[in-house]
Amino acid sequence: MSTASAIARPNIALIKYWGKADVEENLPASGSLSVTLDTLYTQMRVQFDEELTDDRLIVNGEAMPHMLARVGRCLDRVVGTGRRRARVDSTGNFPIAAGLASSASAFAALVVAASAAAGETADQLQLARQAGRASGSAARSLYGGFVELSASATSIDVRSILGPEEWPMTVIVAVTASGPKPVSSGDAMRQSADTSPFYGRWIDEQDHDLAVAREAVLKRDFRALAAVAEHNCLKMHSVMWSSRPAIVYWNSATVACMETIRVLQKKGVPVFFTIDAGPQLKAVCPPDAADTVADALRATAGVQDILRTGLGQGAELLADA
Ligand code: DP6
Repeated sequence: MSTASAIARPNIALIKYWGKADVEENLPASGSLSVTLDTLYTQMRVQFDEELTDDRLIVNGEAMPHMLARVGRCLDRVVGTGRRRARVDSTGNFPIAAGLASSASAFAALVVAASAAAGETADQLQLARQAGRASGSAARSLYGGFVELSASATSIDVRSILGPEEWPMTVIVAVTASGPKPVSSGDAMRQSADTSPFYGRWIDEQDHDLAVAREAVLKRDFRALAAVAEHNCLKMHSVMWSSRPAIVYWNSATVACMETIRVLQKKGVPVFFTIDAGPQLKAVCPPDAADTVADALRATAGVQDILRTGLGQGAELLADA
């Protein structure tokens, strides 16, 4: 038997990944830029065992057979299809309903733990590529702080462009609804590519937005980052809304939260929002504005809960038990 454990945190994209160049290889159609979060995590323990006849997946103490196939394919890619069967135990400290990509932290932790348990010596970029094959956003959770993923026709590159302590930021998640999303990101991306008249333009402009965001991060220019991140988020949602049938992840509280952020901005509070494939709004601000932003979002009609975190490190192997 060989066992290893790893931990990874979710990330939030400021320049979004929305569209695939290759569905089979799960290659993104454009680059993206994200921040890795701090206090939220998924921990994965992988144990390869010759006695097992099937893979097993336990999430927060409960068997999760419906997610097993995706996990099994990821293990096959990391370790090879001739591998021993595995018992995979996943524990996390944030609710799935928080609308944070739990698949990102889960697959990032999984590839690190699986590779170590199999005695392999893969480097971080190889592991990021393997995580990205399972879920595009997971490749970014291998790295900490501000992370850029660049995409070519055949491969991705991922790197941290600024560490978490180099430009401290607080992310506040306003939870406006719980429950599963109406359409998975993968299906929605395909629908957008097939039917939105704006999809081609969206992809064409991604390199430009990415360059603006990268420069803003490197110069620590909050206003420039805020402007390009909000614009990029709203363009992604415009692609979704203009798909057939329309893909609308927002609810009325999501819109109320956007209005709250607008009011704060008018008062001079440094903050911006981003929204992913779900109804939760994520506000990003310097730590000294975080109390003001959190109070305003908590007081917004329809907000059920608030999560608050700084920026964190990439996926890490844990001294195993
Ligand atoms: C809106 O990484 O979940 O959060 O590769 O199909 O697993 P798959 O998609 P996924 O998509 C994330 C979409 C997003 C934007 C982002 O994180 O960049």
